[in-house]
Amino acid sequence: MTADAAPTIRPLTAADAQAYRTLRLAALAEAPQAFGASYEDEAARSLDMIARRLDSGPTNCVFGAFAGADLVGTAGFIIPSNAAKSRHKGLLVGVHVAPGHRGRAIGRALVTAVIDHARHHVVLLQAAVGIANAPALSLYERLGFRQYGLEKKALLVDGAYIDEALIVLDLSADA
Ligand SMILES: CC(C)(COP(=O)(O)OP(=O)(O)OC[C@H]1O[C@@H](n2cnc3c(N)ncnc32)[C@H](O)[C@@H]1OP(=O)(O)O)[C@@H](O)C(=O)NCCC(=O)NCCS
Repeated sequence: MTADAAPTIRPLTAADAQAYRTLRLAALAEAPQAFGASYEDEAARSLDMIARRLDSGPTNCVFGAFAGADLVGTAGFIIPSNAAKSRHKGLLVGVHVAPGHRGRAIGRALVTAVIDHARHHVVLLQAAVGIANAPALSLYERLGFRQYGLEKKALLVDGAYIDEALIVLDLSADA
């Protein structure tokens, strides 16, 4: 596969735990403002915990983009609450493409995979994005997400607060 060939997108499994861990730690080191998790928290998770998460089933899963055999991007889906009144809402999380692979529609393909998956499980797909994160905001907007709120001081990273736009994609047929 050449560097420009379309990536393969598929759900990750426990067998991908090491590659996922390596990419995720690189993402948290490179773009700490973009994620709710910290490098230290993630580094403390054992490979077993990560493998279990990757095998948790369709309501807690991660899609990966592969260039050849290499994992170069991820996007996750979680239903945070199983309560009857909230389980129609899912979260798009952990969207990341390795720096050397950006600008080749991999982020779009990953988020599209999560949207296609989410349609079978939830009515609303929500996410939170730093208001200064222009690439991510643009990516989500082009895929139909709309802002419904603003969380001031949502994250505290290296002593600085980050405000996050709260965005949603309505997947109901009449949206
Ligand atoms: C955001 C991110 C996932 C985009 O991945 P990517 O593979 O480069 O994105 P794509 O090539 O699929 O681009 C899709 C859309 O994203 C937007 N986009 C991507 N890079 C952009 C940039 N540098 N500036 C502005 N918009 C950009 C555009 O709208 C683009 O659509 P277009 O090509 O039709 O104009 C990537 O930049 C990244 O991993 N950033 C660091 C982590 C992060 O911020 N994650 C999001 C957390 S909420």
